Amino acid sequence: MDVKVFDNDTEAGKYAFELIKQGMDNGAKVLGLATGSTPVTMYQAMVNSDVDFSNMTSINLDEYVGMSPDNDQSYRYFMQSHLFDKKPFKETFVPNGLAKDPEEETKRYNKVIADHPIDIQVLGIGRNGHIGFNEPGSPFDAETRKVPLTQNTIDANARFFENKDDVPRYAYSMGIGSIMKSKKILLLAFGENKADAVQKMIEGPVTNDVPASILQKHPDVVVILDKAAASKL
Ligand code: GLP
Repeated sequence: MDVKVFDNDTEAGKYAFELIKQGMDNGAKVLGLATGSTPVTMYQAMVNSDVDFSNMTSINLDEYVGMSPDNDQSYRYFMQSHLFDKKPFKETFVPNGLAKDPEEETKRYNKVIADHPIDIQVLGIGRNGHIGFNEPGSPFDAETRKVPLTQNTIDANARFFENKDDVPRYAYSMGIGSIMKSKKILLLAFGENKADAVQKMIEGPVTNDVPASILQKHPDVVVILDKAAASKL
């Protein structure tokens, strides 16, 4: 794993975007994208640039089950407001939180991924080492599926909801098997509350207990950190 440490998340986000630009110059057409607070500085760098994404396809990692794309807590809403409304892509895929049949939806999404192999996958990391919504214990070979969220993640997400009972309990998530098939992976992590997860991901054993640790086995991963997230390495 190639680990890069920056003074702050603005510099780190700009660097992540530089790698995406390089990838696009070398023919990348499909970006795997993530939500959460972490990739925001990277999306700002994309929006502030003069780069044209109208030939690009994006595939997002995950979405809350039961959440409408109009709900401002949905990941579709997040992607529209932070990136797609400002920088149009050719096509953008996010799991459909309102799908009637979860099995059909996961099948559909797996076909989307199979039809558009991901050139560069952007990841954040949960405080418990999850990637996407692949919580501890997730199988390393999984494809997209409906997953229950752990209490740890529900608690971490509660800050975004008025009422704790409104925090979703399930999500659709791209599986670790699909993530590992991406040609290149950029994992971003900022802040002291990610330092433990980052240390275990990079220096710990490869174990399902820390889903991100599997990235040690991927041939092209760049881990982009601020100083606080790197403080336990
Ligand atoms: C959520 C998302 C993950 C994200 C994580 C960290 O659980 N499903 O994709 O990496 O949160 O979020 P943040 O970047 O806000 O710390």
